[in-house]
Amino acid sequence: MKFLELVNKRYSARSYKADKVEKEKIDYILECARRAPSAVNFQPWHFLIIRNEENRNKIQQCYAREWFKTAPVYIVVCADKSAAWTRQSDGKSHADIDAAIAAEHICLAAADAGLGSCWVCNFDTVKLAHDFQLPAEIYPVAIIPIGYVDEQPQTHSSRKAIEEIATFL
Ligand SMILES: Cc1cc2nc3c(=O)[nH]c(=O)nc-3n(C[C@H](O)[C@H](O)[C@H](O)COP(=O)(O)O)c2cc1C
Repeated sequence: MKFLELVNKRYSARSYKADKVEKEKIDYILECARRAPSAVNFQPWHFLIIRNEENRNKIQQCYAREWFKTAPVYIVVCADKSAAWTRQSDGKSHADIDAAIAAEHICLAAADAGLGSCWVCNFDTVKLAHDFQLPAEIYPVAIIPIGYVDEQPQTHSSRKAIEEIATFL
């Protein structure tokens, strides 16, 4: 598949079938996340793969949307602030940036494996960190629900034109 085809195949899926996602597909997705680039190659990330009923119920309480409950699997992308590179010139931690790149690798890998996914950041981060007992230095960046989509294939929402977002100098 050409890269642009894969990019266009991924969209924010918000309805999933109950069908289980095969372990090999989860492994493939995690391998793609693991291969993501990171500042100074510090790889300051950790992934929670949430599949069992008890933990699915717990995470669903961190983002109370009906569609969110339909996902059979969730990957919580966490960043480790103690492991991330900090830029000396302005003190900026790159933990969020690194975690975001890994998260998008997850979404693209899911699309490549015939699965739907969706970035979710509008969740209760404090509740999630508490309920899943995250260590103090690790914080959740995004929840990515994953599963076989139960809807008509969609396209992306609209995008700004290149002329609007790029400056050729
Ligand atoms: C950082 C980030 C946070 C997002 N958070 C949410 C969210 O909390 N809930 C949600 O339904 N979609 C969320 N989205 C999905 C966006 O709404 C979606 O990517 C955007 O509208 C473009 O649509 P598309 O992904 O279908 O191309 C998020 C996307 C990104 C990149």
